Parts: sequence; structure tokens; C-alpha cells
Amino acid sequence: MMKKWLVVTGVSVAAVAAAGIYAADVFPGEIAPIAVADLPEPTDEQLTMGENLAKLGDCSACHTPEGSRDMIGGFGLPTPFGTIYATNITPDPDTGIGTWSYAAFERAMRDGVDREGRHLYPAFPYDHFAGMTDDDLMALYLYLMTLDPIPAERKANELAFPFSFRPLLAGWKLLFHDPQPWTPNPEFDEEENRGAYLAETVGHCGACHSPRNAFGAVMADRTFAGGEAEGWLVPPLASHSISPAGWDEDSYADYLFDGWSELHGIAGGPMTPVVDHLYEADEDDVFAIAVWLARITPPMDEDARDAVVAEIAALDLPEGFDGAIADSAPADVLKGAEVFRASCVKCHKERISNTQPVSLGLTYSVNAPKPTNLFNAIRHGIEPGLGSTSRKMQPVSLSPADMAAVAAFVRWQFTDLPAWTDLEAQAAAAAEAAH
Ligand code: HEC
Ligand code: HEC
Ligand code: HEC
Repeated sequence: MMKKWLVVTGVSVAAVAAAGIYAADVFPGEIAPIAVADLPEPTDEQLTMGENLAKLGDCSACHTPEGSRDMIGGFGLPTPFGTIYATNITPDPDTGIGTWSYAAFERAMRDGVDREGRHLYPAFPYDHFAGMTDDDLMALYLYLMTLDPIPAERKANELAFPFSFRPLLAGWKLLFHDPQPWTPNPEFDEEENRGAYLAETVGHCGACHSPRNAFGAVMADRTFAGGEAEGWLVPPLASHSISPAGWDEDSYADYLFDGWSELHGIAGGPMTPVVDHLYEADEDDVFAIAVWLARITPPMDEDARDAVVAEIAALDLPEGFDGAIADSAPADVLKGAEVFRASCVKCHKERISNTQPVSLGLTYSVNAPKPTNLFNAIRHGIEPGLGSTSRKMQPVSLSPADMAAVAAFVRWQFTDLPAWTDLEAQAAAAAEAAH
């Protein structure tokens, strides 16, 4: 770890030195404050669109503390460099953005610079927001300015030097941030392009679903190849998807609206607030995202899908499963079968009704390269989204050894994939993790 940090420091310093030639980029300067009276008068259409964009952009996932509906900031984003707190974006003049002109807001959303001229960390996904149209940014701005102004001081970030030194971000931007307007793909129809625009800019889906490099920047050539967020593995999407049953327009629409798909299961962890906001966003817009995703996902023949789903369903265990499996199974799998019998099979069993959980073999948690999401589901349970509130799983209290064993069993029973390795150590680490 230390070595990586040194490299980061070295390159960042070099980059800042290069950027230093353009001092304006390192110290962008203040944009004059405005008084509330100076705000342009919004139209109803702008306010509706602004609210919709705030849902699609998931602003409140980071800017609203748990249990509140106000965008007063406070959520701490864990990053490899430390914790970065989202700020108050209500129009409070002292602690929020009440004195921000549209020009100041636009600069924050496109260039990641605050009104006073400080560089902002890309934990705030301005690398995606930068591509939004002027009309959309204006609508979003005017909507935010109609929120109740609520005073809430910002929390200090917990970052070690040199990451705490904001001017370094000028170097980061030079290397990794290109605030270009989004451009449509001429091969897509209007709806597909609408979906692409929303997903790639305001929706910032790639911020979680793509791997990041050592500098915390999304790897541009590996968009949607899968990533990590808030202690969860984030599945690869579209052409990178590893979902056994594949995806089409309907399953994407089910998953994005309801947070659950019959062929893939539940949207858990950091995906739950995303689907909750999509549930409240404009239906045509969410559908456009589903249509675009289907367009960029290799299609799966329907008969082939039915065969895969039947094959996986056949692996589900009967309600009366007594924990006995082939003696030839590895020892941890044998032990895990017993844990599964005691703690899981009463819910995760042969499906006779649509209200039951999907076959575990269809889910990302079980097909993923590591047991991270499976452990999260066991330890924290599943708190389903607004579109599928009955699909709740209570946390299951297991010792790390039992958690490791049940993971070994689930992988062995429900997939043909290689066994997960290092299970005991990963289960012990999961049990120690704060979230
Ligand atoms: C993934 C989390 C996340 C999401 C989603 C997010 N933000 Fe933020 N935002 C942050 C963080 C963290 C900061 C503070 C960055 C810093 O301190 O450098 C921030 C800062 C800002 C700022 C600068 C405020 C200031 O006082 O400096 C604005 C404006 C802003 N966000 C608007 C938005 C809007 C509008 C949306 C939705 C379209 C949004 N954000 C979505 C995490 C997020
Ligand atoms: C804050 C991080 C985050 C953002 C932003 C995000 N996702 Fe996700 N997404 C996740 C996580 C984590 C999962 C896995 C959930 C689970 O295993 O229960 C997931 C799962 C999914 C899946 C299911 C994939 C599979 O193979 O099971 C789809 C589809 C999806 N997201 C689409 C999107 C779209 C479209 C957007 C943008 C509108 C988006 N996501 C934005 C974190 C995120
Ligand atoms: C009281 C019922 C219940 C019990 C007991 C239970 N689960 Fe669940 N589990 C659910 C429900 C409901 C869901 C949501 C998924 C769905 O409805 O399709 C879920 C989801 C999951 C998921 C996430 C699947 C996905 O879609 O990504 C995993 C993994 C999981 N359970 C594993 C386990 C394991 C392992 C055990 C035993 C240690 C267990 N569950 C015990 C009801 C239960």
C-alpha cells in the first residue's frame, strides 16, 4: 500500500508542476457570491425536469443523511485515500450553495471547482456530470435553489496528506478529467441515445460499475467492467455481464424500476438507493436507460435462456433438505450444507411461487469472483427497494467459520464456477468491517 501512495504522490506532484504553468488551473479563483434576489425565475417545466434529474443523478444518496429528506450533506464516502464528506447543497447562504450563481454551480458540476475556487474531489462524480447539457444543468440548479435553505456545517474530510491538499487535484484533472459535452451515437435511435445520455452523465452508472486506477479515476477503456463501492462488489454490466440468464429490455426495466428481477434477484447494498431514486424518476427516462442497456448487451436466445434458468432452478434444494450431500464433497462444503440447512433453506428453496427469492444460482452474489456481497447479505440482511418491499431478508448471525463454510457450500451447490479461496480470512475480515 505504502508504495502505491508514494507513486501517487510523485506523479501528482509532477502533474501539478506541469499544471503550474497554467496557474489558473491550479488556483481557479472565486466566482462572486449572489443574493437570492438575483436568481432567474424558473418555469414549472424546469422545476419538474430539475427534480427528475436530481433523482436520476442520485444526489440525495450522498447529500442526504440517513433518515432525512434534506440535501444537507454528511454522508462519508469511503475511498482508498480516506473518507470524503458530501456537502450541504440546499440554498442556505452560509453553509450551503445559497450564494452560488449558475456560473458557480456549472463550474462545480463540469470542472469540479467550488464557488470560492477550491478543487473538489472526484468522489463527487463531476467526471460524469460534466457531459450534461446547459439546459439540464440550469434546470437542476433552479430546482436545488427552491429547496428549503437549511444550515448544516460541512464535516471535515478524513484524508491523509498529500491527499488532503486540494491543489493537487489540478494535476489529477489534467491527467484524468476531460469535461467534454456528451455526444449522441449516430447508430442509436432517439430513445437509446436518451438512455445513454442519462446513464453516462447525470446517472453516473459507470462511477460504480467500472474499475478505477491507482489514482481513483475510472478506467476509461474499461467502462462497465465491474468495480467496488462502499464495501460491495459492483457487477460488470452490458457486454461485460456475467449473469447466467443474460439481460434484455424487460429484465433491465424490472431491475431498475423495482430493484428486483425474476432472472437476477435483488438490488442490494449501494444499488438500493439508486433503484429507489429511479422508482421516483420519470418513467420514460428510466425505460430509456433499460432500452439502451439492452442495446449494448449481447442478446441471448430465449430458448437458451429458458434452458439455463431450468438447469439452475434444478439445483435448488427441497424444503425438507436434511443437510446431507455427496460424501465426496470437500470438508468445508459438507459443513456449509449443514449451516445452509439450519439457517437458509427455509427461504432459499425450490421455487413454487413468484413471491419466493430467486434461485441463488441466478444471482450476482453467488456468481461473483469473491464472496463479498454474499457475506454482506448474510451479515446485514437485504433491505429491499421501494418497488419490492416484501423481499426483505433479516441479517443471519453466523460465526466467521460458519459464514465461510456456507459460502463454500453455496458456490459448490449453485454454480459450476471455481471454489472461492481464502474464505476463512475473508469471513473474518467481513465480521470485523464496520459496514
Ligand atoms: C457519490 C456521491 C455523490 C453524488 C451521487 C453526488 N454528489 Fe455532490 N458531492 C459529493 C461530495 C463527496 C462532495 C464534496 C467534494 C469535496 O469536498 O471535494 C460533493 C460536492 C458537491 C457540490 C459542491 C458543493 C460545495 O459546497 O463545495 C455540488 C454543487 C454538488 N455536490 C452537487 C451535486 C448534485 C446536483 C448531485 C446530483 C446530480 C450530486 N452532487 C451527486 C458526493 C456526491
Ligand atoms: C453507488 C454505486 C452504484 C451506482 C451509482 C450504480 N450501481 Fe448498479 N449496482 C451497484 C451494486 C453494488 C450492485 C450489486 C447489487 C447486489 O449484488 O445486490 C449493482 C447492480 C446493478 C445491476 C445488476 C447486475 C447484475 O448482473 O446482477 C444492474 C443492471 C445495475 N446495477 C444497473 C445500474 C445502472 C443502470 C446505474 C445507473 C443508473 C447503476 N447501476 C448505478 C452499485 C451501483
Ligand atoms: C427469512 C427468509 C430468508 C433467510 C432465512 C435467508 N434469506 Fe437470503 N434472501 C431472502 C430474500 C427475501 C432475499 C431477496 C432476494 C429475492 O427475493 O429474490 C434474499 C437474498 C439473499 C441473497 C442476495 C441474492 C441477490 O439477489 O443478490 C443472498 C446471497 C442470500 N439471500 C443468501 C442467504 C444465505 C446464505 C442465507 C443463510 C445463511 C440466507 N440468505 C437466509 C430471504 C432469506
